[in-house]
This record gives sequence, C-alpha cells and structure tokens, in this order.
Amino acid sequence: MRHTRIIVTHYGGPDALQVVEEECPEPKDGEVRVRVLAAGVSLPDLMMREGIHPETPPLPFTPGWDLVGVVDRLGAGISGIEPGQIVAALPISGAYAEFVCLPRRELVPVPPGLDAAEAVSLVLNYVTAYQMLHRSARVIPGQRVLIDGAAGGVGSALLQLGRLAMLKMYGTCSSKKASAVSDLGGIPIDYRQFDFVKEIHRLTGEGVDVVFDGIGGTHIWRSRKALCLGGRVVAYGLTSSLRGGQLASGRPGRRHRFRGIAIFGLYIAGGWLLPGRKRVVPYSIQWLKRLRPALFRQDLIALFDLLQQQKIKPLIAQRFPLAEARHAHELLGKGGVTGKIVLVRNGPSLESGVA
Ligand SMILES: NC(=O)c1ccc[n+]([C@@H]2O[C@H](COP(=O)([O-])OP(=O)(O)OC[C@H]3O[C@@H](n4cnc5c(N)ncnc54)[C@H](OP(=O)(O)O)[C@@H]3O)[C@@H](O)[C@H]2O)c1
Repeated sequence: MRHTRIIVTHYGGPDALQVVEEECPEPKDGEVRVRVLAAGVSLPDLMMREGIHPETPPLPFTPGWDLVGVVDRLGAGISGIEPGQIVAALPISGAYAEFVCLPRRELVPVPPGLDAAEAVSLVLNYVTAYQMLHRSARVIPGQRVLIDGAAGGVGSALLQLGRLAMLKMYGTCSSKKASAVSDLGGIPIDYRQFDFVKEIHRLTGEGVDVVFDGIGGTHIWRSRKALCLGGRVVAYGLTSSLRGGQLASGRPGRRHRFRGIAIFGLYIAGGWLLPGRKRVVPYSIQWLKRLRPALFRQDLIALFDLLQQQKIKPLIAQRFPLAEARHAHELLGKGGVTGKIVLVRNGPSLESGVA
C-alpha cells in the first residue's frame, strides 16, 4: 500500500516542502501504525523548516509536531490497544503523513465523538498553555496575566484556560484580532500601535503577576518590565526569530538549532540577580514530556475531558488537505491567523472517522 507524506528538502521557506508518495511504513516491534486524521500546523513547524528550532532533525525530514489518528496496524508485542481506536500523539516531527509508526507508549487515547481538528489542537497548544498556567506559573484565581500573541494557537488556548482559572487577562495582538481576544475574555492591547509595557502599567498600576512570552529575544526583558514585584515571565517561544514566516535574520539554508536560546540563560540569571524578585522561567513541552512523560499524558487526558464537557472550544483557523501543507505554511507565516491551522488527510470529509 502506498501513502503520501510531506518532506522538508532544505532549510528555508515554504518551497522547501515537497509531497512524496512511497510505500507505507511497517510498524516495528513495540510500534503501532496510525492513519493520521489531523496534523497540527504551528510556528515550531515553520522554525524547524527554517532549521532554527532546537528540535530540528537532519534533512530530509517530515514535519509535524502533533497528530490525531486511527490505530491501523500493530507491531509485534503490542497489547492494550486495538485497530480502529482513536489516538493522539506529539511526535515532534513526522505528523505530516497519511501513515506514521510510533512507539505504543507515545499514544494517548482520544475519547469518542470529538472532532479530529479540535482534538489535535489540544496536543501541542493546549498542553503547552495548561502546563505553563498550572505547572510553571501556578496561577491562582484573581491573578493578572499578560498573554503575548493572544489570538494565536497557544495564545487563544491560554485565554480559554485562563478564563476557567478565573484570571484577569490582557492579551497583545494586532488590531484586527482584538475582537477575538475580547471574545475569549482578554483585554486586547494592540502591540503594533502601543508600547505594551506602558499599557500594562496604565491599566493595572503596579503590573501583572505573570507574562506568557512566546516572542523571545529582547522581548523577554520588556515582558519583565510589565511585572509587578514578585511576578514571573514564562518564556516559551521564539516568534521574533521569524518575519513573514521566514528567518528574520535573512540567512536561510543552515541548521542553527541553538540560535536564539542562549539569551534565555542571560535573562534567567538576570531575573535572579536583579532586585524586585521578578523571575524569568523557561518552559518547553518537549523537555517536560521527556523528563515527566506521565504529566503530559495526564494533562492531555484532562484537556480531552474539558473538550468533551464543552468547557473549551479550540479556534480552528483553517483546514487544509495534507498535500497543501505548503499553502498552510504560507498562510501561517503571513500572520493574521486566529487559532490553529490543521492538515486533514484528504480534506475535511475524512475527519468523519472521529465525528
Ligand atoms: N515552549 C514550548 O513548549 C512551545 C510549545 C508550542 C509553541 N511554542 C512557541 O509558541 C510561539 C507561538 O506559537 P503558535 O503556534 O501559537 O503561533 P501562532 O499561532 O502563529 O501565534 C503567534 C502569534 O504571535 C503574534 N505576534 C507576532 N509577533 C508579535 C509581537 N511582537 N508581540 C505580540 N504578538 C506577536 C501573532 O499575532 P499577529 O498576527 O496579530 O501579529 C500571532 O497571533 C512560537 O514561538 C512557538 O515556537 C513553544
């Protein structure tokens, strides 16, 4: 049987994505073959395509951090899972494919009746948001938080989960996304028109308890200035390393996995050394999952439960067929996307496997 997958042929722009057709992979011992129903498209995918994300594999590779699919075939020695079961996983790369083989331990059961695109939004974006809120920042009701890129994939997840945690929320976004941010319970701040540090102090007086900074670089230091005494910046992204979806430095073509992350160390140290007890703490879903895999599973299951109870509702910006991954990257790179872009196998109709 043959299948389609997307590969990155060189580190660079969306033209680096190519569609290939090849024999379906066979599961090895301890592996399960999954037919992918939905794969998320995220800024970390674009950063890996450009070669600047710390997790970037060598070329050629198949991108795709997160997926929801159907168990299709079991390798030797697998028990406790059946063909036809719906599962989710965070393989970090490889999800842009019709079929993927993964170790059994990577698979988390998805409750029946969920939409595949909504379910896949939880795997990267909502787990990231949930763990930053409840494990890194340990928020308590009534605290004030600032969410950068509040209408984006992770940002909109932070707003929905922050509302459930009864936080007072401010969110930076461009002006046309202001209504999306206020609909989700945040007070929008147009970061292109206003200095968000001044705006936060104007709106709150002493500053916020927590800033979730996905922008990275020198922006982290500005986020620190928006804190009240004893507050913390949770630094989790490097959005500033891309401009228009491509390398901001304008020197594509190489694998620079640690560009941009050295500055985190500087700011973490600064947070400890300078007065004001304002800390900068880094967050990484992949490192927390490697160190404490049970937490990832537990948090994702808790989020599936919230989705089933309709307490959260992921914003799906657009669904693309798998073969149009390049267009999906172009759209996300251009900006202006509210919520999550999702690749579906042959267009939206295939998702009926989970509907
Ligand atoms: N550490 C982790 O475990 C982890 C996990 C997942 C994602 N991430 C990181 O999280 C970040 C967001 O990812 P995503 O997939 O949610 O991206 P996304 O959906 O593209 O959202 C990013 C948002 O950032 C906004 N933005 C861009 N520049 C900004 C600035 N200077 N100030 C404020 N907002 C700005 C954009 O809004 P406008 O279009 O309105 O400008 C966009 O809505 C990325 O850096 C990614 O690598 C980290």
